[in-house]
Amino acid sequence: MAEAPRTEVMRAHRIEVMHGVNLDMLGKRDPAHYGTLGLLELERRIEALGAGLGLRMRFFQSNAESAFVERLHRLREEADGLVINPGAWTHYSWAIHDALEIAALPAVEVHLSDIEAREPWRRVSVVEDLCLASFLGQGLDGYRQGLEVLRRELDRRQADDRQAEERQAEDRQADDRQAEEREPDGSDR
Ligand code: DQA
Repeated sequence: MAEAPRTEVMRAHRIEVMHGVNLDMLGKRDPAHYGTLGLLELERRIEALGAGLGLRMRFFQSNAESAFVERLHRLREEADGLVINPGAWTHYSWAIHDALEIAALPAVEVHLSDIEAREPWRRVSVVEDLCLASFLGQGLDGYRQGLEVLRRELDRRQADDRQAEERQAEDRQADDRQAEEREPDGSDR
């Protein structure tokens, strides 16, 4: 019997944007480093950028490291990709590094300010090695670039998965054909 054509329903990639400690105070922090937008307005603009790329966006902020870590733990099931700005935790929280490793998602790191051009202690990022790319000191545009990197990476992974599924289906069909060509006693016709 001929196989029914497969209708692929492509699900939009789910992106989590996580802001860490003190980033709820944007708008009240030094505008020379962080600009003038409050967190809600920043998130609203990131959401619009994500929507423009066909991404499903969700946002999280916490000043509690344990809440941030626990959110990362849940992301394995709840997101496909991650934009992370851990605030000052960036520079020393190995707990967040480990939780990000557990999340095992394609991630990009974004900082509003250029952490490499400020105090020496800000030059270290403990999440950098787990991220596909880091965007520093470019404000909102850093988030846009980060979302584009994620979109490309997730599209590539989706295409690879689909190809692997198609190859498996072809292999199964070839096995079925071979089995049909055999006599019931297992001998070849
Ligand atoms: C920040 C940079 C960090 O060094 C700082 O502690 C922050 C914000 C940024 O977005 O530039 O809170 O992550």
